[in-house]
Amino acid sequence: MMMSHIIKRKYFMACTVVIGSQWGDEGKAKMIDYFTRDADVVVRYQGGANAGHTVVVNGKKYIFHLVPSGILHENKMCVIGNGLALDPIQLLEEMNKLELEGIEVKKRLLISDAAHLILPYHKVLDSVMEELRENKLGTTHRGIGPCYSDKCLRIGIRTGDIFDKNTLKERLEFVLKLKNLQLEKIFNKQPYKLEEITNILDAFREKTGGMITNTEDYLHSAIKDGKKIILEGAQGYGLDIDHGTYPFVTSSSPTIGGALLGAGINSFDVDHVIGIVKSYTTRVGEGPFPTEDKGNDGDRLRVNGKEFGSTTGRPRRCGWFDIEFLKHSCRINGFTSLALTKLDVLSGFKKIKVAVGYEYKGKKSTYRHSLIDNAKPVYEELDGWQEDLSKAKTFESLPTKAKSYVRFLEKNIGVKINVVSVGPEREMTFPI
Ligand code: GDP
Ligand code: IMO
Ligand code: MG
Repeated sequence: MMMSHIIKRKYFMACTVVIGSQWGDEGKAKMIDYFTRDADVVVRYQGGANAGHTVVVNGKKYIFHLVPSGILHENKMCVIGNGLALDPIQLLEEMNKLELEGIEVKKRLLISDAAHLILPYHKVLDSVMEELRENKLGTTHRGIGPCYSDKCLRIGIRTGDIFDKNTLKERLEFVLKLKNLQLEKIFNKQPYKLEEITNILDAFREKTGGMITNTEDYLHSAIKDGKKIILEGAQGYGLDIDHGTYPFVTSSSPTIGGALLGAGINSFDVDHVIGIVKSYTTRVGEGPFPTEDKGNDGDRLRVNGKEFGSTTGRPRRCGWFDIEFLKHSCRINGFTSLALTKLDVLSGFKKIKVAVGYEYKGKKSTYRHSLIDNAKPVYEELDGWQEDLSKAKTFESLPTKAKSYVRFLEKNIGVKINVVSVGPEREMTFPI
């Protein structure tokens, strides 16, 4: 009897998924850079250049929009998965910048042939839609919504489509007919010529042609060979198209389902799902944010935490930690542990507020999509600490009140905090 095709799942599972647990900018890239030490491959699985992922090494700051944050580790492979909305102009720019820094990208980055391409008309349509909206979303104008819409309409152009020039031309002619009608007749904007688009794709093919492949196959082989893989999320749970604060969300799924989908990995291969959690809360763009502090404390968090967008430079809205929101995030993502970032930013506050629940119309309420707009947080106040934490090397060496804060969050969220970060540099991180 032939049994050899039957997979026995005895081997260790290979993938760690890293997900933003709040509204993005939790410090995912810093933590991914830290976890990459123990990994072989880092995969971006969704979003596009709306992401701004910062890693600081020896005082030098790198901001990634499309290239996985693991690229700074020599000899590790990086993958842009099928779930991405990939802007070819942005990717070439990012690659060139890294190469000028002496970082090898071409041999270490693979691009899924099923990733969708963001083309100039997507970016224009993103901006004109925002202009027209009365209730603005505050998008990053990177063409994300229009590109994922084309994917769902089944008129998107994928990276793998750039090789067959005749078919590509036919498809682009059809798409441009639609886009130019929209641009000219509805939005009074300039139409695009086929040549403008093909020039972009020619440059993209020339530079990245050899990197485009079936990345699912690559990842499956890597898993079989016992390689360790990190799946790098962009954005965060609160921006998820299904589970976030719709319509104030992005157009992809940063949560666990999106990770499997956007990398082409099955759930049996995942052993850790790590939620990245900022020690307070921020949000950039519009939408509900129950614990936002529009007063002095919010301003102080913004200044202390340097809370200005890595992609757009916009000031981030700041507020207190929200346990109710986090608990919901944990349920959706199934976090096996949490990594807590930016604890150092809370130094100097006399009292630190933490939302331990919501009230709606005077009654206690759990997290509900329909209520989040009007949910009133119920706060507990914890004692703050004055000491600078950035030199701390161990959890034990932190001030007692900082340790109590971490333990309070852990106990109330109900998921273990395994790592704490006290500064932007690689070394300012320790396990607990
Ligand atoms: P991401 O999108 O989740 O990767 O996060 P961003 O890079 O957009 O924003 C996080 C910002 O906080 C970056 O400027 C990081 O360098 C910085 N950062 C990360 N961890 C820490 C930390 O523990 N303390 C401080 N002070 N800054 C941090
Ligand atoms: P990283 O990966 C924070 C927000 C935008 C806007 C909404 C929709 O760095 O955490 P989009 O351009 O995606 O259509 O905008 O989503 N947003 C982010 N906020 N961090 C991000 O990425 C974000 N990417 C998108 O501000 O509110
Ligand atoms: Mg960011």
